[in-house]
Amino acid sequence: MTRKACVIGWPISHSRSPLIHGYWLKRYGIAGSYERLPVKPEELSAFFSSLMANGLAGCNVTLPHKEAAFRAVRTADAATARLSVVNTVFARDGELWGTSTDGEGFLASLAAGHPGWRAAGQSVVILGAGGATRALVGALLDAGAGRIFIANRTRAKAEELKRDFGCRAEPHDWAEASDLLRHADLVINTTSLGMTGQPALEIDLGNLPNTALVTDIVYTPLETDLLKRAEARGNPIVPGLGMLLHQAVRGFELWFGTRPEVTDDLYDLVARDIDPGYRR
Ligand SMILES: NC(=O)c1ccc[n+]([C@@H]2O[C@H](COP(=O)([O-])OP(=O)(O)OC[C@H]3O[C@@H](n4cnc5c(N)ncnc54)[C@H](OP(=O)(O)O)[C@@H]3O)[C@@H](O)[C@H]2O)c1
Repeated sequence: MTRKACVIGWPISHSRSPLIHGYWLKRYGIAGSYERLPVKPEELSAFFSSLMANGLAGCNVTLPHKEAAFRAVRTADAATARLSVVNTVFARDGELWGTSTDGEGFLASLAAGHPGWRAAGQSVVILGAGGATRALVGALLDAGAGRIFIANRTRAKAEELKRDFGCRAEPHDWAEASDLLRHADLVINTTSLGMTGQPALEIDLGNLPNTALVTDIVYTPLETDLLKRAEARGNPIVPGLGMLLHQAVRGFELWFGTRPEVTDDLYDLVARDIDPGYRR
């Protein structure tokens, strides 16, 4: 039987998920398909109602549907219940279930990109408190991280994270960001600053211990200015593309029944799609 999955969003043309899942379908010799499907907000409910009848095993959900999808399906796990968003929907026993794989994708990317790295006891500085930050805070706390300092332009959003995740998540003003770096074992940029077409992330790295691991969830460009500057001063770095690849693993397993591997080949394929001049 051919299994089918897709990614829905509006717009959806930018999604690299078909490249990732298409690679795995071919690699594991699975008779299946994974398509991009533009779905307008007003079409979402009809899309979910007919998902199983249309022969789909599930889908990825991207902007702007992540919250609405959370409300439309059953929540598969407690970690996702705290997030109020899903990025992965799957059919089981005649019902639709949703989960979020961003947190595990982020942790797996760090473990792969910086072997031996563990969250336990680590002091983390997060720049940003947007939609993607919640999953990271949840996953880091579940994995035993110590204090998580969160600096965001709109402080109220960082305060919300403390309210929802407890006092190990400490909200701060954006103006404190470079000062907070002195606490960091791990620094994460979750703002859109530094992304192609967005303003630069201007932050003084002078206070950052040079042993601190620096990562950016922005993956266009593949190596952001933050990562370049951190690397130049001797800090270890992990680029954001790994998270995109690792967050896709569980969805593929849920729909197609095989747990896929994130290989160098896959990394290079997607990296070249982002930057044709990319060389490992
Ligand atoms: N690697 C991956 O798998 C992955 C997964 C998800 C997202 N991402 C990337 O992560 C980035 C953020 O995504 P998101 O969904 O969390 O976006 P979002 O919800 O729109 O959040 C954007 C964040 O950037 C901050 N920001 C934007 N402009 C700013 C400025 N001029 N000065 C200071 N802060 C500013 C926002 O602060 P305010 O709260 O003050 O607006 C907010 O914290 C995007 O580049 C996205 O592509 C990557």
